[in-house]
Amino acid sequence: MKFSAHEWRGHFPLLANHPRLHYLDNAATGQLCAAAFDAVTHHELTQRANVLRGTYKLAEAADAAYEQARRQAAAYLNAASADEVVFTSGTTAAINLVAHAFGDTLQAGDEVVLSLAEHHSNLVPWQMLRGRRGVALRFIRLADDGRLDLARLDEIVTPRCRLVAVTHASNVTGAVSDLVPIVAAARAAGARVLVDGAQMVQHGPVDVAALDADFYAFSGHKAFAPNGVGVLWGRAEALAALPPFLGGGGMIGRVTAEETTYAAPPRRFEAGTPPIAQAVALGAALDWLRAQPWEAMRAHTTHLAQRLLDGLAVLPGLTFLGPREMTERLPIVAFNLAGIHPHDACQVLDAHHVAVRGGHHCAQPLMDRFGVEGAVRASLAPYNTEADVDALLEGLKDAQRKLK
Ligand code: ALA
Repeated sequence: MKFSAHEWRGHFPLLANHPRLHYLDNAATGQLCAAAFDAVTHHELTQRANVLRGTYKLAEAADAAYEQARRQAAAYLNAASADEVVFTSGTTAAINLVAHAFGDTLQAGDEVVLSLAEHHSNLVPWQMLRGRRGVALRFIRLADDGRLDLARLDEIVTPRCRLVAVTHASNVTGAVSDLVPIVAAARAAGARVLVDGAQMVQHGPVDVAALDADFYAFSGHKAFAPNGVGVLWGRAEALAALPPFLGGGGMIGRVTAEETTYAAPPRRFEAGTPPIAQAVALGAALDWLRAQPWEAMRAHTTHLAQRLLDGLAVLPGLTFLGPREMTERLPIVAFNLAGIHPHDACQVLDAHHVAVRGGHHCAQPLMDRFGVEGAVRASLAPYNTEADVDALLEGLKDAQRKLK
């Protein structure tokens, strides 16, 4: 199927409202697609009611829309059943859910394996769990190009390991994790696997069945859908084995003044009124995304990232964080220019209408590994064009003129 970035831009209303903007901060948030925008409007204008509570027609319409969104998310992930999809407020909430519900089944001496590439949202909850339960944290280290160093995996994933929680792709370096040996090592140890898919879902449908993990977390806002909603996918058997995390309405079987029985998953993990319109819009966005020509879109973003890497390579004083070749990486490019603070570079770039993020990117252990405080990061989406990349490169040259 053919793909045109210019046509694709037409599906993103904000980009039409900012024709001069070179938006290259897609790893932080993707722009809202029209499918999601239309779904929110339709839902709020015709179906707005609370879900899983009302018996009148409007509430039934809201229920149907909400459950359809669950099926749409399941289809995007190739999940075995919609009941494996728990709506959360985002990746962070999904990981915290597992850190509490699964974490509360752990004991002192049990081990959780992470990597040094993790976003703080897949690190801090486990440090907090260590404080509560006395579990030990072990880390997969990083090779010089930012990829996970899996050489000594059998020493890191020991028989005491109960969970391996790793990112599917780094939000800084774009390196895609080689999950096959990680899942194999976890299985050999009898451990569960949680994959942080926050960066991955924006780059096409994910196949959780093929990944063979137990949990997969992502956020709506990075998948061109609203913020305030995300998904925790859990294998049916893995979710069924978890106690609830948050208590409240909607997650119960029967409540007496003394005690409560709990609903089956996914409702067991959806206490309180969920982000209904956001979930409906996320479902619509994922449905639309699933029908897109991903092979051509990935070829496009890979071409743009390669153009960026080539353009950066000739800038004096440039250092990359992450793999230079475009295989097994996302179009996320992080770098530093000698003598220029990332925030200062971002300010000059803003004057060129180029929006990128600079700083530690909520991944300070990764920054420590490479001995830097932060980096400038450009992250590409299919609506980006060569003009966006070229504006970034021109802006960086200007930053070097002005700031060095
Ligand atoms: N996790 C988002 C990022 O990496 C916010 O920018």
